Amino acid sequence: MRNRSSMSGILTAWLRLVSVLLVCGLSVSNGDGKFSKLADLSSKINITSAGYAWVTAMGGDDLRSKGKVEEAFAADDKVEQDTEVEPAFTSIDSMLQWAIGHADPEKMKGSAQEVQRMTPQELEKRRAEIRDLMEKLRMPSDADLMKVAIADLHNESLPAEARKRALEELVILVEPIDNANDLDKLGGLVVVIEELDREEVELRAAAAAVLAMASQNNRIVQAQLLSYGVLPKLMKMARSPSSEEAVKAFHAVSAITRNCPPGHEIFYRNGGVSLLTELLSSENVDTRLRKKALFLVADLAEQRVEVKGQLDAYNLDDGFLRSVVGQAESVDLDTQQKALDALKSLHKVSKSVRETLQNVCHVEVVLGRLELYFQKLIAEPDQERAEYIKDLEELRREVTELFASKEDESEAGERLKDDQILYL
Ligand SMILES: *[C@@H]1O[C@H](CO)[C@@H](O)[C@H](O)[C@H]1NC(C)=O
Ligand SMILES: *[C@@H]1O[C@H](CO)[C@@H](O)[C@H](O)[C@H]1NC(C)=O
Repeated sequence: MRNRSSMSGILTAWLRLVSVLLVCGLSVSNGDGKFSKLADLSSKINITSAGYAWVTAMGGDDLRSKGKVEEAFAADDKVEQDTEVEPAFTSIDSMLQWAIGHADPEKMKGSAQEVQRMTPQELEKRRAEIRDLMEKLRMPSDADLMKVAIADLHNESLPAEARKRALEELVILVEPIDNANDLDKLGGLVVVIEELDREEVELRAAAAAVLAMASQNNRIVQAQLLSYGVLPKLMKMARSPSSEEAVKAFHAVSAITRNCPPGHEIFYRNGGVSLLTELLSSENVDTRLRKKALFLVADLAEQRVEVKGQLDAYNLDDGFLRSVVGQAESVDLDTQQKALDALKSLHKVSKSVRETLQNVCHVEVVLGRLELYFQKLIAEPDQERAEYIKDLEELRREVTELFASKEDESEAGERLKDDQILYL
């Protein structure tokens, strides 16, 4: 689900601005220049798409350059006495303080009396001004927020912290598919891809997370990213010594290629099988990464069946198949489950894959050992875990039966018919 609260930078600033304006709208009519302060405020809050970026940057203490204004606000009573003080706002906080300082009950009453004294024309003018301001301060749309984040990423002098926040906001913003579809039009994919080259590892990881989210179950974004040629770079990042970067990058690889034969083809052509073998057989690979790798193995296998042999030119070698079988005996139960799922899918791929799994990788011996292991675990007192292991054992039995069954004539005949249909 969306988590609006993490859009804090922009939205907090926006909410504060609105509250400032509501308070000010009631209280700025003191003194002779009736509308001067409202107009003053209006000129400072120029909310264009770039203007939002200005608001974001005002979120913290970063814009406190004009020290004398701080001094002016420090002397509260001075503000009280001298309503003609012209505040030059240096941060949202100081605006808020100023507004609250001007909103005491006495003054509000004064304002109300003054409103009663206003001519209809003056009242109408006041209303129009407030309406104008509220219009400018309408709730920013997702597209506005994406534009702000993209503009931030374009800003070369933006500090890494703010850059990271912009990327994290984009991850949330592109979750709805319509927003993801807009990202490229707004120039978002290109800037995010550029972030993959940053020196700071957390920025590279955050950028990969945006690409993963945007391309998830989204053929349009998958195709866009493939055409930008980003896959080989993400595959390289999946070998990063930083597990955060490796996991996020691999997640993006998986999301971009999922159910997408052209993506699989690029993946194979760029050494995808050896990447998977490496992730599944090296020591010290993050468990999350292993599980994602096994998930991708299953997807690759399913796609090979789906496209009826069109990806068969890319060999699934013995080393690769052995690394998948090896994970069926992982110490992590969830990894075991993903490995069993992968084996179930691989079984469908081809006769030669099946034979390699049986004769070279000895999958049936491994599945036999697994049965004994699960039996031992099921006897454990932890009931919840026992339930889970029962499900795993069920899956193990299913996979074992697949490999035990002899491929009969009718199945072979079925495949032949399919092939004929394909090439007619
Ligand atoms: C608001 O921004 C627009 C576009 O950037 C600019 O043309 C205009 O002068 C600005 N208005 C004020 C009051 O700053
Ligand atoms: C770029 O970021 C810096 C640092 O936050 C900021 O001072 C500057 O105004 C920004 N420039 C633009 C064009 O937004």
